[in-house]
Amino acid sequence: MIVYVLYGGQSPEHEVSLKTAATVLKALNTQKHEVYPIYISREGLWTGLGRMPEDGLNAENLMPVSRHADAASSLGEVLKAEFSLPGEKVALPLLHGANGEDGTVQGLLELLGIPYVGNGVLSAAMTLDKDVTHRLAGLAGIRQTAYEIVTRREWEEDQAGVLSRLKKRGLLPGYVKPATLGSSIGISRCEDEAALEAGIEEALRHDVKLVIEREVPGREIQVAVMGNDRPQASLPGEFLHGVKFFDFRAKYADPTLRMSIPAEIPPAAAEEIRESAIRAYEALCCSGLARVDFFLGEDGRVYLNEINALPGFTGTSMYPVMWERTDGTTYAALIEKLMDYALE
Ligand code: DAL
Ligand code: MG
Repeated sequence: MIVYVLYGGQSPEHEVSLKTAATVLKALNTQKHEVYPIYISREGLWTGLGRMPEDGLNAENLMPVSRHADAASSLGEVLKAEFSLPGEKVALPLLHGANGEDGTVQGLLELLGIPYVGNGVLSAAMTLDKDVTHRLAGLAGIRQTAYEIVTRREWEEDQAGVLSRLKKRGLLPGYVKPATLGSSIGISRCEDEAALEAGIEEALRHDVKLVIEREVPGREIQVAVMGNDRPQASLPGEFLHGVKFFDFRAKYADPTLRMSIPAEIPPAAAEEIRESAIRAYEALCCSGLARVDFFLGEDGRVYLNEINALPGFTGTSMYPVMWERTDGTTYAALIEKLMDYALE
């Protein structure tokens, strides 16, 4: 089968995608599949790298920026070359964030009639938006923290009014989040009004819509979900990191970061997390895979945080490791399973 691996991408999570892709490309069975890596630069230029040699790629040729810095690098070229190859095909859009995890690339693949791993146009678009996720999860009766939406227009028109609305709602301490970014980019933890104001200004540099959420004191627990119409949930996992705000640096550059799987939490909470993860997955029309993130509050309650349509997928990322600890699925077998779901 022809397997297209799309990576890089026009989003602040470009680097995270490179890490994910490097691991996936290494794990793909090049005896069984014809693998075609396709790199998308930060500027949005698409470059097909041709068929991957059977001995794989090294890190250097994963980033063909200099090799292909000519006008031939374009989506049009990839459409004419890679995407028009005859034969059975599947695509792995290993893209995090905007222009990749948000339904746009999924739409392109739909138009081309190429099956792809992971969420479809609708669920990818909805889960990337924390506001839409909150609304639909709320309708499905899933517990979430208190939150408010603030738009750039509201902020420009009446800052004092917005701040007073947020304070009245009791959202401090809380988090200001751009509605549609991943990996904690643009997110601030705020304890007082001055921090809230600065946090809003910062988040508005990334998005025109913000979600402001009351902090849930407690722990962050994640669960991996996989499947189409009968989704399964893994054992819950937890990152042990010792920081209050698990930000971009803590996620990707803290050498002391450790995973605890299964998370050491009461069995009833673990059960509720797995059950709520599947309900959230279904409420957001997910298919293929998603990592669903929760807070386990000091009050003993479970709160949905968010859904990641294409979770980090390196060898040390939560998603694949949670499956491995749950039922022994290896990284390579997990990719095969996800491709099978794409072709269902
Ligand atoms: N957005 C990052 C990749 C994650 O959810 O793992
Ligand atoms: Mg996320």
